[in-house]
Amino acid sequence: MSRAAPPVLTLGVLVSGRGSNLRAIIEAIRRGDLAAQMGVIISSKKDAAALDHAAGYPTCFVDPARYSDRREYDAVLVETLRNHGVDLVVLAGYMRLVTPTLIAPYQNRIINIHPSLLPAFPGLHAQRQALAHGVKVSGCTVHFVDEEMDHGPIIAQTAVTVREDDTEASLSARILVEEHRLLPAVIARYAEGELRIEGRRVAVGASL
Ligand code: GRF
Repeated sequence: MSRAAPPVLTLGVLVSGRGSNLRAIIEAIRRGDLAAQMGVIISSKKDAAALDHAAGYPTCFVDPARYSDRREYDAVLVETLRNHGVDLVVLAGYMRLVTPTLIAPYQNRIINIHPSLLPAFPGLHAQRQALAHGVKVSGCTVHFVDEEMDHGPIIAQTAVTVREDDTEASLSARILVEEHRLLPAVIARYAEGELRIEGRRVAVGASL
């Protein structure tokens, strides 16, 4: 008796800017390293460069100026994500805080990538903060999203050594290389059903 193929994970990727992490996800899917399909790419910025990487996939610009508050905005996101059958929401350089309106229907199904070893240096300019603080090691973090910024349970991190001659640009560039590897790898693990949340701790099975 033949078994039905398991359903393919459908992604919704939220972006606001450059889109290099979006590109890394798309390339991983195309290479066959990530068993997922792109449901929709949603941008909070009309002219985000990320949209240039989205060729062939459904995209949508949701204009923050059209909504009076963040919850109303997030309600539109939920509707859009649902219309595209999204299972997992990926924040990839998405520059807005998300509200319970988005988090509740996608509980434990929203992940974010941040360019520091959280809980150190949440918020904007994480690499600049790390250099200013004088840390010797920084890196990137993929975590589940909760109602606090850059705060939810940590899924995976990659460390990057800070060099004495690093600038914000050089450190950011080395961290970005690791981001592009880590984010698709975490999504792949999610797609395999390997991630288990136990309070603040996330078991990922084998090392990423
Ligand atoms: C990345 O450094 C990511 O960690 C942070 O915003 C940046 C987005 O870069 N959240 P890109 O738009 O994916 O190139």
